[in-house]
Amino acid sequence: MATAAEADAMRRAVVLAARALGATSPNPVVGCVILDASGEIAGEGYHQGAGTPHAEAHALRAAAGRARGGTAVVTLEPCDHTGRTGPCSQALIAAGISRVVYAVGDPNPDATGGARTLREAGVDVEAGLLEDAARAGNAAWLHSVKYGRPYVTWKYAATLDGRIAAADRTSRWISSPESRADVHRLRAESDAVVVGSGTQRADDPHLAVRGVEGAVQPLRVVVDTEARAVRPGARVADDTAETVVVVADDLEPDRLAELPAGEPWGLPRAADGRGIDIPALLAALYERDVRSVLLEGGPTLAGAFVAAGAVDRVIGYLAPVLLGAGPTALADAGITTIADALRLDVTETERIGPDLRITAVPTTRAHKER
Ligand SMILES: NC(=O)c1ccc[n+]([C@@H]2O[C@H](COP(=O)([O-])OP(=O)(O)OC[C@H]3O[C@@H](n4cnc5c(N)ncnc54)[C@H](OP(=O)(O)O)[C@@H]3O)[C@@H](O)[C@H]2O)c1
Repeated sequence: MATAAEADAMRRAVVLAARALGATSPNPVVGCVILDASGEIAGEGYHQGAGTPHAEAHALRAAAGRARGGTAVVTLEPCDHTGRTGPCSQALIAAGISRVVYAVGDPNPDATGGARTLREAGVDVEAGLLEDAARAGNAAWLHSVKYGRPYVTWKYAATLDGRIAAADRTSRWISSPESRADVHRLRAESDAVVVGSGTQRADDPHLAVRGVEGAVQPLRVVVDTEARAVRPGARVADDTAETVVVVADDLEPDRLAELPAGEPWGLPRAADGRGIDIPALLAALYERDVRSVLLEGGPTLAGAFVAAGAVDRVIGYLAPVLLGAGPTALADAGITTIADALRLDVTETERIGPDLRITAVPTTRAHKER
């Protein structure tokens, strides 16, 4: 049984891990706290980016000699393989750690086995402490290991009557400055931010993170099948962050000449002829080490993602505003009858300034069937 000090240490480790959301892909976020032999915190650390030391290495370095006979509390099973850094299981054994408490088993076939190695070396190992909290903190990575595609959060801002723009297509601003600041945090936690050509045309969005200290900029992605929406001077093409324009792979090369961002990605068209094939887009992003996607719209592209069963979390900012006309948050998602509605479970509601932020995930059954 884990002690109260170990539970406190795990809560701290989950918080530490979250500091690096959006910065570690294709690796998970991991936090680690070392308790010395008397149960006092001797060191802590978190994984800060792929190719850099793992959480355990940071925490062991901070704990130094106090690690001997102590306990390592870590959000993910310590790895057992040599990648760009050495195996954490061996580092913990070498430091004289006598007990390891971790929250989530490592599902990655290359890295798993740390618990077994530790046990074989005589270390006392306990799994599953605060597993739900640690899983939630690593949702994108765990999802991408399981399904081989990035975890997609669709975010929108709507009026209380569900509209995301006015009849004349203006949408700035439906939500409050507080909500917009919150979106910058979401962007900072994501590896890529995606919009469609309609949003590109209407809003000329910038899509980079502002106002979040130490944020790693996400990859900015505009899905512009015909290479007509991203024009020279587009804000998304500045040098704040990397940008990729996704176009159909059958366009003539001269159509690409005026695209201001770097090399476009040519991907297959969707089978129904409407835009780019969503699974192919997600596969291309995964290939580029993207594990979490923030889909920022608009309603047409979001509808295509929902139709493809590729929305894993929805975050809606509902503003106390009425418009009465204008496009609604989601366009055609291939759902024509109520029995096929995509049902969601609300996981959080929060007041953000004058707005209400609702977070929801597809109910397991509905999601599995899609
Ligand atoms: N309030 C909010 O949260 C919010 C967020 C975003 C946008 N907006 C508003 O939404 C409006 C734009 O909406 P929109 O629906 O036209 O924009 P959109 O969803 O950003 O773009 C739609 C376009 O994406 C392209 N596309 C590429 N692959 C696709 C696929 N597989 N399925 C469907 N489309 C695909 C299509 O054009 P091509 O194939 O020709 O490229 C399509 O017309 C603007 O008024 C904007 O201000 C509001």
